[in-house]
Amino acid sequence: MNPSKVSYRIPFNKPGLAGNELRYVADAVVQGHSAGEGSFTRECQAVLEQILDVPRVLLTTSCTHALEMAALLLDIRPGDEVIVPSFTFVSTANAFALRGARPVFIDIRPDTLNLDENQLESLITSRTKAALPVHYAGVGCEMDHILGIADRHHVPVVEDNAHGLFAKYHGKRLGTFGCLATQSFHETKNIICGEGGALVINDPRYIERAEMVREKGTNRSRFFRGQVDKYTWEDIGSSYAPADLLAAFLYAQLEKHEQITAMRKRIWNFYYTNLCDWARNHDVQIPCVPEHCEQSFHMFYVVMPSLDARQALIAHLKSRGILAVFHYLPLHLSKMGREFGGWPGQCPVTERVSDCLLRLPFYNDLSESEQSEVVDAVLHFDAWLDLTKKHG
Ligand SMILES: Cc1ncc(COP(=O)(O)O)c(C=O)c1O
Repeated sequence: MNPSKVSYRIPFNKPGLAGNELRYVADAVVQGHSAGEGSFTRECQAVLEQILDVPRVLLTTSCTHALEMAALLLDIRPGDEVIVPSFTFVSTANAFALRGARPVFIDIRPDTLNLDENQLESLITSRTKAALPVHYAGVGCEMDHILGIADRHHVPVVEDNAHGLFAKYHGKRLGTFGCLATQSFHETKNIICGEGGALVINDPRYIERAEMVREKGTNRSRFFRGQVDKYTWEDIGSSYAPADLLAAFLYAQLEKHEQITAMRKRIWNFYYTNLCDWARNHDVQIPCVPEHCEQSFHMFYVVMPSLDARQALIAHLKSRGILAVFHYLPLHLSKMGREFGGWPGQCPVTERVSDCLLRLPFYNDLSESEQSEVVDAVLHFDAWLDLTKKHG
């Protein structure tokens, strides 16, 4: 949840610069191509295609828009159903609701907070047109199990990989399992350009249509490649290609992706090492990364024993000038979620985690001394927890 405008000594997020952003943006301006589909867009797409080892990546204006493109490519229509975790950002469901689909909410596993693959099969009906695993915190969902079920029922899988760029599941990159996957480069993510995203196309059958959907339903991409001598309206679509100015910014980040990951790994490990014992002794859950997953180091969260404890810890940190935040409100209990049939108790793990989860400050430039302050503040919250135990 977004905080009020109070300024904090240690904020929750600071968009990090990798170094060459402004130079590349200036290059894009000087080159005279600041609109979409310019050279920086092509460079970013090529880097992503190479690292992910996928047939095609298309930059988009956001992960939300990449999800909307996925809904268009899968021909989602009124009456269709899509299976989405209730514990996710609105866009995972909204992009499909926009096409008239009904989101069917699935609960999460209590350990990784990812979609509970054991509940998937029971939610599939003849109307199911997609399943959307979200790799929460950049830790892979149980893709072998999910793909097995989805294949058996011929349900396309779209990975919402907003958190998990470059992470791996059983040695294979997240975002390369579903027929389509989506990425976010919003300023709160690991690799950023302000607002941005990408559609990862793993099934080549979607490439040609995806290019048209992104270019307002036209075959303009073919025109740019010299494959046709004029472009025209061929399909439905919208304006989903980012300005090359943003791609220039993004390219500067992508070329330093290893350093960025290393910085974030240090921060994650520091929290983990220093909060492990405290968590164990106070019934607090910290992130679980299964052995077969290599995570993206996107965030560090704690799941407190109760809503009161979570709120009190946020207030305690705030009193020390530290901003900690929470998310997501269960989608099945939102106004829209209820209109789609959501009810209290439908996704009990989501409901508990949503009440109790708190995210600690996490950004590339978070210094070790700032992080020690955060850890120290958390450890000094013991007094409150002990007190509530005695009186509870
Ligand atoms: C899981 C998930 N999916 C999608 C999005 C939307 O990303 P964007 O802001 O790039 O549209 C977010 C944003 O935080 C997210 O957390």
